[in-house]
Amino acid sequence: MNRIIDLRSDTVTMPTDEMLKAITSAKLGDDVFCEDPTVNKLEEKAANIMGKEAGLLVPSGTMGNLVSILTHCDRGTEILLGNKSHTFYYEAGGISAFGGIHSRQLVNQSDGTIKIEDIKSAIRMDNIHFPKTSAISLENTHNLCNGSPLLPEYVQDVAHITHDNSMKLHIDGARIFNAAVALNVDVKDLVVDADSVTFCLSKGLSSPVGSIICGNEEFIYYARRNRKALGGGMRQAGIIAAAGIVSLDKMINQIREDHNNAQLLSEGIANIEGLSIDREHIKSNILYFDIKKEKTRSPKLAKQTPDNNLYPFDIILDNVYFLETSPSRFRLVTHYGINGQDVEKTLGILKQMVK
Ligand SMILES: Cc1ncc(COP(=O)(O)O)c(C=O)c1O
Repeated sequence: MNRIIDLRSDTVTMPTDEMLKAITSAKLGDDVFCEDPTVNKLEEKAANIMGKEAGLLVPSGTMGNLVSILTHCDRGTEILLGNKSHTFYYEAGGISAFGGIHSRQLVNQSDGTIKIEDIKSAIRMDNIHFPKTSAISLENTHNLCNGSPLLPEYVQDVAHITHDNSMKLHIDGARIFNAAVALNVDVKDLVVDADSVTFCLSKGLSSPVGSIICGNEEFIYYARRNRKALGGGMRQAGIIAAAGIVSLDKMINQIREDHNNAQLLSEGIANIEGLSIDREHIKSNILYFDIKKEKTRSPKLAKQTPDNNLYPFDIILDNVYFLETSPSRFRLVTHYGINGQDVEKTLGILKQMVK
């Protein structure tokens, strides 16, 4: 049987053999009592890598963003975030549902930035009619904006405005290591001016579960309390942390290969008649492409066209899985487990998308 080539997301990655071994031999304790040595080791390692004082393991990127934003923002205050940000789009409205935090969406440019002028003009003056603007959240790399990495200079500019206005800067760095690799910078340079960052172990870094929040000691102290309130205090969580340590020690190099594979895919797609791709913006492991307006879907693809507006939608062509994210726009994500042969096979199959 043909192997499945699953390019829907880097969240489908399976743990490596080394992770499985580390999980079975991990030293464990009760992490709600801060007594799990493996969790403590991972949190300390992550904080060192990010150049922050402390770290906190959470079950998911969604909880990492929620805990961070709950910790920065009081109820009834406002957070600025991109209109294509994951927190706005895909986190079930958690910040308003559980935090009473008002979100204000600013336009994301195709490179994932928000214009500096837009940020400046969105910060509210002190007036009883307005919610206080308490924080801004940036996403790096930006999932819906071509997986674009945000430059350190841009993050620094946003941080200056944020801090000049007594606000906090959070970074949803679910794929911050992809950004660091794409820009060839130390990951610390991308978060040095931020008050908090969340990154995921369970995407390009291949762990089965887990994300980490990093920030200063005081922030992490309150974040830990919010994690508990949300039910994210896990007991012998060292079984998760053990894989996370392998992610940080061994899997960052894999990201370079994932980016190379994304480049090979984008080059191949650019040469397929009937498909179009904006190659300029592809710098990490996420790529989007479109069926040209004048083209018709092949019968095999047409059979899978959603009959409702429930995007994203799984597309399965032979053994290749990917997503249709909006009508005639598709997403591929490269990751551990996808090799050069898979890229070639995928390109062969994508040729059959249009008549
Ligand atoms: C940019 C971004 N932030 C946050 C998340 C949420 O991560 P999780 O699926 O672990 O909740 C994702 C998930 O894909 C993401 O792409």
